[in-house]
Amino acid sequence: MSVQTATSRDEIPEEISAINLVDTRTYLEHDMDAYWRRLRADHPLYWHPPVDGKPGFWVVSRYADVMALYRDNQRLTSEKGNVLVTLLAGGDSAAGQMLAVTDGRRHKDLRNVMLKAFSPRALSKVAALVRVNARRMIADAVRRGEGDFAAEVASVIPLTTVGGLLGVPVKDHSYLLGLTKSSLSSDEADQAPEEAFLARNEILLYFSDLVAERRADPQDDVISTLTASEIDGVPLTDQDIVFNCYSLILGGDETSRLTMIDSLYSLSREPEQWKRLKEGSVTLESAAEEALRWATPAMNFGRTALVDIEMAGGTIKAGDVVTLWNTSANRDESVFDDPYVLDLGRSPNKHITFGYGPHFCLGAYLARVEVKEMLDAMRTFSDGIELTGEPRRIHSNLMAGMSTLPVRFRPDEAGLATADD
Ligand code: HEM
Repeated sequence: MSVQTATSRDEIPEEISAINLVDTRTYLEHDMDAYWRRLRADHPLYWHPPVDGKPGFWVVSRYADVMALYRDNQRLTSEKGNVLVTLLAGGDSAAGQMLAVTDGRRHKDLRNVMLKAFSPRALSKVAALVRVNARRMIADAVRRGEGDFAAEVASVIPLTTVGGLLGVPVKDHSYLLGLTKSSLSSDEADQAPEEAFLARNEILLYFSDLVAERRADPQDDVISTLTASEIDGVPLTDQDIVFNCYSLILGGDETSRLTMIDSLYSLSREPEQWKRLKEGSVTLESAAEEALRWATPAMNFGRTALVDIEMAGGTIKAGDVVTLWNTSANRDESVFDDPYVLDLGRSPNKHITFGYGPHFCLGAYLARVEVKEMLDAMRTFSDGIELTGEPRRIHSNLMAGMSTLPVRFRPDEAGLATADD
């Protein structure tokens, strides 16, 4: 573990050292933009001191450094966890089995198997489902006029998407939604960690049953493809499949949900950008990319160093935990012009919302489809969005965003007449 020299510790100003990145309240109570600006400028490799009995860790905030470390699966490993909670607890029980926390040859082979399950045919089927769902749900929401966009639309689309991909029966979607919500972040500050643990176990149990069903009676879905897959002639075990279903549902649900909520929130506050979207003066593609950069729902991921790594004027020691802050990299002024401005026509826009390198998000295509279809349906069916109350922000040190979004829609009657209901 790293021991900081007295000199470098002395150099850290109080406004930096007082920020506790492990505490979920930090993100709600502090001006984090100012914090990240300061880190990028003066402390690009910052040693976050140990807190609450947990070990300290490195904080990497510049775009180029974050990219370089994401790319480096030789000197860094994900097998001791890739999120703060597991990294600081010293490991992830799914290491070597769940894609995101597997490295080396096994990661490559498993990723190829999963990519096969994400065939263009499977994806185009799911993309069509996303379009139908998004248009139906958003047309209904606009007709109702007022409601909580988070609960009524943004919660439903991602789970239906990943559920469709995995072949989860529609009747179970809301049950799984409840579990995924409590397993990753929380609407309440004081949710007990045991609750998240129980929710995770329930998801695993649910998928064990589904895998058994698909083995007995294969369907046209990802689980069935995985049950028929092998690596080096050895079939995937039930546990391999269950862990990876879990990772798809967790990876694909909350991130997309938070992006959609954030996009609508931002459009309600930025009438000029809404106008550009509505009038078609920006493409859906560039609008979606900017919505993804702007939201950056996964604030950070992490790794553990396998060897000493020199970077940004410091040394990460073998065994140290390193956290990569997408949230900061996506606002790096050396890469993005006016990074704190929402510009739906932004080009180039090489955001790092989906990570980078060997672990680059497997669901990026589907997430992009979801955001594009949401924006498309919104600009077709609505003529404007207003907030009707304060949104509630989530409590998490991994994810950022809102869990409620009370809004009122002005209908676009001509657009609504084209809704396919
Ligand atoms: C990996 C973000 C949607 C499945 C990742 C990583 C990021 C990310 C940053 C890299 C993690 C790391 O390097 O440790 C996002 C965001 C999404 C999104 C922001 C939505 C806006 C999805 C969806 C799915 C998915 C829809 C599934 C259908 C995965 C999987 C991995 C992953 C399986 C692990 C890939 C690997 O380790 O090789 N995601 N994701 N994600 N994501 Fe996503």
